[in-house]
Amino acid sequence: MYKKAKQINWPELISQKNTFAIFSNVSNSKITHSHYASLRLKDGIVDSFREISGKRPDVDSKNPDIWLNLHISNNEVLISLDTSGGSLHRRGYRKDSIPAPMQETVAAAIIAYTEWTGEAPLYDPMCGSGTLLGEALMHYCKIPSGIFRKRFGFEFLPDFDKSLWVKVRKKIDRQIRELPDGYISGSDSSPEAVKISRTNMRNLPHGDKIKLETLDFRKSRGMMDGVIVMNPPYGIRMDKGRRLDNFYKELGDFLKQKCKGSTAYIYFGEREFIKKIGLKPAWKKPLKTGGLDGRLVKYELF
Ligand SMILES: C[S@@+](CC[C@H](N)C(=O)[O-])C[C@H]1O[C@@H](n2cnc3c(N)ncnc32)[C@H](O)[C@@H]1O
Repeated sequence: MYKKAKQINWPELISQKNTFAIFSNVSNSKITHSHYASLRLKDGIVDSFREISGKRPDVDSKNPDIWLNLHISNNEVLISLDTSGGSLHRRGYRKDSIPAPMQETVAAAIIAYTEWTGEAPLYDPMCGSGTLLGEALMHYCKIPSGIFRKRFGFEFLPDFDKSLWVKVRKKIDRQIRELPDGYISGSDSSPEAVKISRTNMRNLPHGDKIKLETLDFRKSRGMMDGVIVMNPPYGIRMDKGRRLDNFYKELGDFLKQKCKGSTAYIYFGEREFIKKIGLKPAWKKPLKTGGLDGRLVKYELF
């Protein structure tokens, strides 16, 4: 691996002025330690620089300009340049969190599954830190998911065209549209969660248009002819040991009685609760997240 890595013309890919880091992943390989794998690749890169240009770039393992991924599986090595410059799932609007928040990308996938386009109001009666609401807003307002990212990995590559990037950004930013009042709302029984949600939503453009209130869903007026999304508590991560069976039955009653004409999309972290809700699913989609083999279930409420 060292020899092969040294043969690559690294100065063509990385500028000697930039820092770099290697993030390794090793499975079923003669090289058993990912740290050792990273070190050998680093040696190959540095020696390639020394031979070609005499100077070498520095390593910055925390905040590098260039992110390299090294993936070794079954004794095969794949070296890739990360043009994002780190994981994209953290959007940057969620400054505060609750005990079991949903990953932004999972919430985005749920909003995509709802096919919501804004023709009916959207409501999350258990909004927690507001992730589903934030992703719905980003979807409706056409806010690019990387809007808060300070920099991307591709900005440090030799063929990066800054003026083209500025043009692309401007074009996308011009497409951002306003959120009309009443399009998105949320509530939660925890005042702390609502406070966090409010702070998080205000970090997003037009986020102050999202209506939020502290409310137990059992006291909510519900929503007729709308789109309801939610991610209720589930045993593994919240309310450990407490029986949630009755909670889900009451949730089913709430949807039946107070949300007529709406379509509900519920993410169940634990599948056993699907039975407890007492509603007939229109469909179920497997959605694994945070070690949970959950299901997104759609209900048409007549
Ligand atoms: C799994 S969390 C939701 C996480 C949320 N999707 C997020 O990304 O932050 C479940 C939420 O349900 C709320 N909750 C629990 N019981 C409730 C009730 N009776 N009425 C309204 N909200 C409730 C909790 O306070 C918690 O914020």
